[in-house]
Amino acid sequence: MRKVVMLSALLVSFGFSAETLKGTPEEKAVMGYCLQCHSYDYIKTNAPLTQKGWEGVVKKMVNVFKAPIPEDAQKQIIEYLTKYYGKKE
Ligand code: HEC
Repeated sequence: MRKVVMLSALLVSFGFSAETLKGTPEEKAVMGYCLQCHSYDYIKTNAPLTQKGWEGVVKKMVNVFKAPIPEDAQKQIIEYLTKYYGKKE
């Protein structure tokens, strides 16, 4: 019985995330590429940035720190970070 309740709670929370990027390729790109050198805290505790700001961070990770991230994944990452840790221009 308890299991059934937990399962439906889980389903409800998934329902609410239809409009988010959780569990999408964008999120997977962040989780897969950005946590190779440091923890997620680096992203979480960074001040909110504009899209250009996040683009700058991702380019810095790639160009300065040599993060091996393909172009299309970089775009997905920037989109994700702008959505969750972004601020208006
Ligand atoms: C190749 C290793 C590497 C990868 C992969 C990497 N980073 Fe970093 N990141 C670093 C280093 C090194 C620093 C600087 C650490 C320090 O200053 O103590 C850093 C620092 C940061 C910071 C702190 C602010 C700043 O600009 O220094 C943020 C935010 C950040 N990374 C985000 C990301 C994101 C987003 C990704 C995925 C696109 C990513 N990192 C992938 C190496 C990496």
